[in-house]
Amino acid sequence: MARQLIAGNWKMNGQGAQLDFFDDLVSEIAAVDVDILICPPATLIERCARAVDSAMIAIGGQDCHVNEKGAHTGDVSAGMLKDAGASFVIVGHSERRADHGETSAIVKAKAEAVLASGLTPVICVGETLAERESGEAERVVVEQMLASLPDEASDRCEIAYEPVWAIGTGKVASTDDILQMHSALNNALPSGVSARLLYGGSVKPDNAAAILSLDHVDGALVGGASLKASDFASIIKNSIR
Ligand code: 13P
Repeated sequence: MARQLIAGNWKMNGQGAQLDFFDDLVSEIAAVDVDILICPPATLIERCARAVDSAMIAIGGQDCHVNEKGAHTGDVSAGMLKDAGASFVIVGHSERRADHGETSAIVKAKAEAVLASGLTPVICVGETLAERESGEAERVVVEQMLASLPDEASDRCEIAYEPVWAIGTGKVASTDDILQMHSALNNALPSGVSARLLYGGSVKPDNAAAILSLDHVDGALVGGASLKASDFASIIKNSIR
């Protein structure tokens, strides 16, 4: 059984004052047998990486450009994120897909750029409410995953299933729906790809244990509740199998 990965996505939140988070988190979790990842905004990656013991907490980016360098004002490359101290990069978050028109082909190219830089991509997939209500959720999400995975099969990819309608809404998918989707994703993974399957979307201290104990749920990608050390610590403690 894979070790669980509990990842926090701070989105566009956090400035230097937020760095106390790490002392507060470490004081609550001591030695736990899970992988922990925090993805702060790019401006904080280097400071976060300096603030943590990388053996205990990994730092990641929230997005990267497909290219290594060049005339792309405002963008950062996977190599730059690595240089700043990141070891993971989230790609294809639904907010990027929706706000920046990122297709699965772009997400795949980003995931390949992340691997090429020696980092681990966390590839996000998820259906909209309309897709779920029309019974298309499983087809859409499996297709998104297959179209977003790098060509080179790798055991250095993580997948996060995040139903769009569950993100930031307090509406969590039912355990039956999560179990069904994660089983479908697990079955659809190409041979040679042993990605962990994370669930994301309104994961909170009070629902984490039920979600993280499901088959084929190998961790969580946490938004809002990752901004508060005590909430994130409680989710981590609920992940221990
Ligand atoms: P919330 O946990 O705030 O719903 O966000 C989930 C998410 O989008 C993590 O990437």
